[in-house]
Amino acid sequence: MGVFSKNGFVLWISLSVMVVSLNRQVDSEPTQDKQALLAFISQVPHENRVRWNASDSACDWVGVQCDANRSSIYSLRLPGVGLVGQIPENTIGKLTQLRVLSLRSNRLSGGLPADFSDLTLLRNLYLQDNRFSGEFPPSLPELSRLTRLDLSSNNFTGPIPFAVNNLTHLTGLFLQNNGFQGTLPSISQSSLVNFSVANNSLNGSIPASLTRFPASSFAGNLALCGGPLPPCSPFFPSPAPTPKTTPTPQIPSRKKSKKLSTAAIVAISVGSALIFLLLLLILFLCLRRHQRGQPAKSPKPPATTRSAAAAGADPGTSSSKDDVTGGSVEGERNKLVFFGGGIYSFDLEDLLRASAEVLGKGSVGTSYKAVLEEGTTVVVKRLKDVVVTKKEFESQMEILGKIKHDNVVPLRAYYYSKDEKLLVYDFMAAGSLSALLHGSRGSGRTPLNWDNRMRIALSTARGLAHLHVSGKVVHGNIKASNVLLRADQDGCLADVGLNLLFGSSTPPNRVAGYHAPEVVETRKVTFKSDVYSFGVLVLELLTGKSPNQASLGEEGIDLPRWVQSVVREEWTAEVFDVELMRYHNSEEEMVQLLQIAMACVSTVPDQRPDMPDVVRMIEEINRGETDDGLRQSSDEPSKGSDGHTPSQSRTPPHSVTP
Ligand SMILES: *[C@@H]1O[C@H](CO)[C@@H](O)[C@H](O)[C@H]1NC(C)=O
Ligand SMILES: *[C@@H]1O[C@H](CO)[C@@H](O)[C@H](O)[C@H]1NC(C)=O
Ligand SMILES: *[C@@H]1O[C@H](CO)[C@@H](O)[C@H](O)[C@H]1NC(C)=O
Ligand SMILES: *[C@@H]1O[C@H](CO)[C@@H](O)[C@H](O)[C@H]1NC(C)=O
Ligand SMILES: *[C@@H]1O[C@H](CO)[C@@H](O)[C@H](O)[C@H]1NC(C)=O
Ligand SMILES: *[C@@H]1O[C@H](CO)[C@@H](O)[C@H](O)[C@H]1NC(C)=O
Ligand SMILES: *[C@@H]1O[C@H](CO)[C@@H](O)[C@H](O)[C@H]1NC(C)=O
Repeated sequence: MGVFSKNGFVLWISLSVMVVSLNRQVDSEPTQDKQALLAFISQVPHENRVRWNASDSACDWVGVQCDANRSSIYSLRLPGVGLVGQIPENTIGKLTQLRVLSLRSNRLSGGLPADFSDLTLLRNLYLQDNRFSGEFPPSLPELSRLTRLDLSSNNFTGPIPFAVNNLTHLTGLFLQNNGFQGTLPSISQSSLVNFSVANNSLNGSIPASLTRFPASSFAGNLALCGGPLPPCSPFFPSPAPTPKTTPTPQIPSRKKSKKLSTAAIVAISVGSALIFLLLLLILFLCLRRHQRGQPAKSPKPPATTRSAAAAGADPGTSSSKDDVTGGSVEGERNKLVFFGGGIYSFDLEDLLRASAEVLGKGSVGTSYKAVLEEGTTVVVKRLKDVVVTKKEFESQMEILGKIKHDNVVPLRAYYYSKDEKLLVYDFMAAGSLSALLHGSRGSGRTPLNWDNRMRIALSTARGLAHLHVSGKVVHGNIKASNVLLRADQDGCLADVGLNLLFGSSTPPNRVAGYHAPEVVETRKVTFKSDVYSFGVLVLELLTGKSPNQASLGEEGIDLPRWVQSVVREEWTAEVFDVELMRYHNSEEEMVQLLQIAMACVSTVPDQRPDMPDVVRMIEEINRGETDDGLRQSSDEPSKGSDGHTPSQSRTPPHSVTP
């Protein structure tokens, strides 16, 4: 047997079986499965060893096993037979009774065909040691009976999907030696005994459910941490760190002199005698100074002092879901304050352990997408430069936490300490309007169609009207990147009402392009300035142009003035986004929405409509054909908005800039 390779041996056995059973039961065979296999082998180049004779029963072919009554193919094993290229559709995916499939050690490439999702009875899938590429095959999580899945030593990239958890019978998952990226999902099957993601490009913390596997299962990745590997550095500094009180350099503490001596040891091993002598000298000096008897240790600022103060400051936060850590004075400093309902149940520790990814760095701070170990995903906004006191902060949070509207991203919790201010929001997977409108234009991106733009305009207007009327809250920072999309494509306002936390010193160019002219001077946002920013947002939806974009013809001209100038000189159709050109039938709706937007961006605050009026006007557009009267008089608002700015009517745009 030593002369045969394992594959050769199997081949030999199979051939003998074939010869013996040549004329047996040729009548009973899985005809459809056979067709599928013939289609496969005729399309995929391979070595001569696989010689499937169409006159024989497929059940007798090399590598093929049928079930007991030869009605379907049960297993297909073609390891190391030089298969090259992609697996075509309508071949192996047709073998719906298949339990075992091994195509390992070939040169198969590309992705798996979509019809692999029909192999619902498959238990063992061995595809290791090929050249498959692309994302984790989306059909695999649907094969819920899989017990062993081996994709190792291929060229797969992208994330390992959370949907792997769908494979509830999995005992072995082999993903090593690929190019998988991102963080590890929490894979929680207790049945799993063999697991490896070694030699990929994964980063972030190892979820608790996987820490029982050895370090070798995780070796060779970009930056995995935690579990059997070295601990993760927290993604934001510990929220209540003891402020660093560096001892004055002349009085080094005992600790410091210890550090120096280790450094000296390193120096010896490097072998630089000069450095060694120098350090020795320093060490000597240090020790001598130390012996002069300075009590070097500076007292640690007692954490309890601050906590006690904090406890004193908030006796009245009644609506906060109390006490993740039990309400003792000591626990006080690790408290996340949750708002109503409590759909989340995690504490600060969980949050700090979460694997996190930077979503964006904005003017108010950095936003992280944090995936908690139990699988919950939230957005954590880490505020910087907050100027208000704890009391003011808390009362603003109380107001914001009460806002409940479909078109406003809910604030779920906050954390306040001297050094760290965190806000926790729902995560919106669909991303922001800004990304949708401007992200990689032209390169395979689906353009935002007219209906959805209308929908976003209306839903965002409703959210804002709710803020103004029910919440009495000024949004203060309306822009396309603060309009997030829900699964149903409704817009949802993010970053509500944070302006107050930063005082009026914040430079107005924080939201360049969206700010009402008066805000630049007064540095105060109002309901009316929100209306202006909303108007700019709608113009952005209509024109497809970003208000920050420099390329609005003349330099330094803002979006409202650009629209005014184009509308005046060339007439309206020119201003609309080229992606909207194919919605000819909707042009009147676009013109009406444009007029509403132009009313919102009036230079004089009092001439801007209130948000509830804006909502009503947009809703009236939606009434469509029934409302001819509205369309007839449709140039009325535009006259109005021209009337607000008569002095500018012929001024060259660049000279108008503030
Ligand atoms: C296929 O098998 C038949 C007999 O079953 C034989 O006559 C024929 O030559 C074989 N074809 C090939 C290509 O081996
Ligand atoms: C044989 O195949 C038929 C369908 O073709 C199936 O109903 C039957 O259960 C099978 N019997 C065995 C023993 O597998
Ligand atoms: C894997 O992909 C990389 C880059 O896409 C390529 O350079 C490499 O040759 C591929 N490896 C195999 C075995 O196909
Ligand atoms: C999970 O498995 C079920 C069948 O058990 C399937 O219908 C579903 O599509 C799978 N989910 C995913 C995300 O693949
Ligand atoms: C699977 O895990 C078991 C127990 O840890 C181990 O003995 C076995 O060698 C593993 N198999 C593979 C293929 O890694
Ligand atoms: C990871 O890659 C290294 C170097 O290519 C290799 O020696 C090691 O066996 C790989 N680890 C696994 C688990 O395949
Ligand atoms: C992981 O790497 C990706 C880029 O490869 C990066 O965007 C992400 O922030 C990283 N995540 C962590 C937790 O380091």
